[in-house]
Amino acid sequence: MSAPTLDRPAAGTPDEASLQERFDATIAAEHRIEPRDWMPEGYRKTLVRQIAQHAHSEIIGMQPEGDWLLAAPSLRRKAILLAKVQDEAGHGMYLYSAAETLGADRADLTDKLIEGRQKYSSIFNYPTLTYADVGVIGWLVDGAAICNQVPLCRSSYGPYARAMIRVCKEESFHQRQGYELLMTMMGGTDEQRAMVQDAVDRWWWPSLMMFGPPDDDSPNSAQSMAWGIKRHSNDELRQRFVDMTVPQAEFLGVTLPDPDLVWDEAAGRHRFGAIDWAEFKRVISGEGPMNAVRVARRRAARDDNAWVTEAAAAHAAKHAGGHAGSAA
Ligand SMILES: [Fe+2]
Ligand SMILES: [Fe+2]
Repeated sequence: MSAPTLDRPAAGTPDEASLQERFDATIAAEHRIEPRDWMPEGYRKTLVRQIAQHAHSEIIGMQPEGDWLLAAPSLRRKAILLAKVQDEAGHGMYLYSAAETLGADRADLTDKLIEGRQKYSSIFNYPTLTYADVGVIGWLVDGAAICNQVPLCRSSYGPYARAMIRVCKEESFHQRQGYELLMTMMGGTDEQRAMVQDAVDRWWWPSLMMFGPPDDDSPNSAQSMAWGIKRHSNDELRQRFVDMTVPQAEFLGVTLPDPDLVWDEAAGRHRFGAIDWAEFKRVISGEGPMNAVRVARRRAARDDNAWVTEAAAAHAAKHAGGHAGSAA
């Protein structure tokens, strides 16, 4: 007798309609879907795509700041940056593990990233030109990541939601270390203050693009919200980020590069200028200033370190004894 599969129930097990009903009831009750549960194929595919894209962003996101590890201005700054970049590697690992609970294969996901068949966040395709960029990435990029990821702690898929809880705690450290670095620089020389302002000028708009296209140009959002994978729309999260960040910019003493940015008393929120969506589309489709470098470096890391993967697999197979086949 063969075991029932997820997509083809055997005789005596519930039919697809009742499985769908149970899935819908779980979502409606705000309970979690777990790996053992039946789920619609579209839900599984959407999650794999989103979690993979998120995992790729964590791993590729190590590069812009990693470039500064050997040029950190002090031992203290180097230790902080090293801890932060290592955290991002850990985030990638939790997320690839979450994708694996959905039947995805981590090596296959990496191949798809390198071949350009899966995306990562557009933000990591910009260069880090000075050490102030390290601070601004922590403040703005990790700050935007927090806005995006805190609601994901309530995502309907259990392993993803649980991974996000730890990720968000670490992101909060990332944001603070960035802000603390910028506060230090703003208390320094005119040249240091100018470096911070220049970094803010370059990273502000790309940070707003991190929330993705506007709601009326985001075709998959409605379904993701209905499934409880996403909790707020792109524009809602972007607005939350702007409202949170403007007072922090004032306290820091920098100017956000948007002449249209004003507080709207009646609406109780900030209004801001038009985002250059043509730039966003260029960068996300591979034409950003650093896309080729990021992917080439990821490819080299995969190829140069293949012997480690092979050795680990051989070691696992040896220790699995009679179950060598499953370890391979
Ligand atoms: Fe992260
Ligand atoms: Fe981070």
